[in-house]
Amino acid sequence: MRRGSIVRITIYGVLAGILASVVAVVVPWLPTSASEEMDRIEFVFWFTTVICVGVFAIVAAVIVYSVLKFRVAPEDESDGPPIHGHTGLEIVWTAIPAVLVTAISIVSAIVLAKNDDAGPNPLRIAVTAQQFAWKFEYPGESPVTSGRLVLPVGQAVKLTLHSLDVIHSFWVPEFGQKSDAVPGIETTLVITPTRKGEFSLVCTELCGLGHATMRAAVRVVDRAEYDEFLAGEARGGGGADADSGEAIFTAAGCGGCHAFEPAGSDAEVGPALDEIDPGGAPLEEFMLESIVDPEAVIAEGYQGGVMPNTYGSSLTGEQLDTLVQYLVEGQR
Ligand code: CUA
Repeated sequence: MRRGSIVRITIYGVLAGILASVVAVVVPWLPTSASEEMDRIEFVFWFTTVICVGVFAIVAAVIVYSVLKFRVAPEDESDGPPIHGHTGLEIVWTAIPAVLVTAISIVSAIVLAKNDDAGPNPLRIAVTAQQFAWKFEYPGESPVTSGRLVLPVGQAVKLTLHSLDVIHSFWVPEFGQKSDAVPGIETTLVITPTRKGEFSLVCTELCGLGHATMRAAVRVVDRAEYDEFLAGEARGGGGADADSGEAIFTAAGCGGCHAFEPAGSDAEVGPALDEIDPGGAPLEEFMLESIVDPEAVIAEGYQGGVMPNTYGSSLTGEQLDTLVQYLVEGQR
């Protein structure tokens, strides 16, 4: 090979490498990390990306060089020279990718193991998913249940995920990881938040008509604010105590599908609850029946088989009465 050719291949390679690097760096492929686990995932991402840019540069350089250098004249229809195999080259292009892929697997395995390790004393929060809402149970002297996920910054948190109906999936993009909530088993996820802020928990497993609305607010705060939040929730979150109609409405996930102004929800999967037409039946009876046995009457324009039929067992009789009362009072 002549020196001129090597110089040309090198120039093509450098140009291809720069182009690929610009695409990798300029486009914001990942959200800004907010957890230690995401930082590690980003490391694997960039480790792999650097290898990919290198491989792309070499392959692109050889292709561009070959296309320009060995292009046949338009009228030349002769066959190319019969070349068969090159053992040295084959060993090189097998060995190098093998080393690179092994390196990526080792780095990934280490990161996966570290991301699964919550340390000796994590904060344990139980997450319950159901169509179409999230519920969080915080530990403490008096355990607190809330529809919001609030985490102290810098504290390793171990989430245990449960589902009451179908498979859902827990994902906060800035925390980097996903984990399914599967009925019948318990899955876990470790999060160590690194910065304060407001994030969004998104369900990423198609779980029914309300899937797209199955979100929850996530806040990362400092320790003092976290303790304040727990105390506030234990007292009943700013006036609404844990047994209030509003608290039950939130905890049962009604707002995931139904609009109801007093609760501030505007979802449109199911009928709005501010203007219920009981069709001649007593309003309270009709509401209770619709909560416990949603298939009994399907509102016009909506379809059956969407609303969970588990509220008769997941809520106590007292809670059902409170909820019905809350809904009746909210009629326009
Ligand atoms: Cu729950 Cu999608």
